[in-house]
Amino acid sequence: MTKLEMLRAEWPHIGLKFLGVGHALPSAGAVPNTYMERLVDTSDEWIVSRTGIKERYFCAEQTNIELAQAAAEEAMSRAGIKPEQVGVCLVATFTPDRMSPSLACMLQERLGLPQDSVMFDLNAACAGFLYGLQTARQLLLTAEPTRPYALVLGSETPSRVMDFTDRNTCVLFGDAAAAAVVELSEEKPYLAICGSRTDNENMLYCSGLADQQQGRPGGVVHMQGQEVFRFAVDIIPHSIEQVLARANLQLADIDHVVCHQANNRIISHVVKKMHAAPEQFFINLQHYGNTSSASIPLALNDMWEQGLLKPGQRIICVGFGAGFTWGACLLTW
Ligand code: UT7
Repeated sequence: MTKLEMLRAEWPHIGLKFLGVGHALPSAGAVPNTYMERLVDTSDEWIVSRTGIKERYFCAEQTNIELAQAAAEEAMSRAGIKPEQVGVCLVATFTPDRMSPSLACMLQERLGLPQDSVMFDLNAACAGFLYGLQTARQLLLTAEPTRPYALVLGSETPSRVMDFTDRNTCVLFGDAAAAAVVELSEEKPYLAICGSRTDNENMLYCSGLADQQQGRPGGVVHMQGQEVFRFAVDIIPHSIEQVLARANLQLADIDHVVCHQANNRIISHVVKKMHAAPEQFFINLQHYGNTSSASIPLALNDMWEQGLLKPGQRIICVGFGAGFTWGACLLTW
């Protein structure tokens, strides 16, 4: 066996240990559906029955980096690690404050992270946190031994790219950041899949520079909801089954399933399709709406705060988003 073949053979046995999770919400407070009724032709009844969302948060003066910093500080403090021990800092986001520099680089300065560690943002839309974990796991292998920890965030301010006259989108999303501190571990099995495919790039997108060049406004989310719904209820069970098959496990062996929190009805469809127990699937979207890449770490944070996560439990996280992108992981708490 070559060294490369040996490394590849060993790699699946290198897991991820979660040392701490943290979160941050806009300080302006929760925005109930009744407020959205004042902006567009909608109703609390429609939003709750079609999505399950009751409230969400929007930043007033706050920026994405402020949310990211607060979430990272909480996760690092709970993990009991110091900034100089961070070897990798990745922020999943599609709503950075600036196109450049990245939120990760801005965090480096604000948190005092080492200057010669790896820091960058990645954009895999709502699947971004899972892409981030998988990327961090690979980068940690080559991190300096004195910096064995990765800080991985999902940090989003979708309110900055919402058309608040479009009832099809503006009632769905909310701002939030959430973070996790992880390290490589042979005791905490971890496996992940990530994928992407583009059938139609206009199904779900946030306009940008090319749009502006062609006279359309940049920075606005557009979505064909039903198409995305159909994709979601197909890819989530498929991804969960793929992860279970690789781990040689059944769904009954899993303690919690954490889906990207976009719509209650998507999760109910998945539960039904997989003949699963509804209580296995954690849901907190009623409080936050769809927070894109922040939704999965925000769910892990809430579960941890509620005392639902016990050492050794198996958790499947599964996300999907614009691209389309998707990802799923089996992690061990
Ligand atoms: O993280 C990104 C991933 N995104 C998603 O996962 C979103 C996936 N899609 C969905 O969650 C659902 O498709 C939506 C919640 C976006 C929409 O629900 P739906 O049941 O698929 O509604 P629809 O698009 O089929 O629209 C049904 C009706 C339409 O009216 P007409 O044409 O039947 O008269 C819409 O105009 O509901 C109307 N509608 C609304 N009515 C009141 C759409 N949005 C609203 C609204 N309030 N906010």
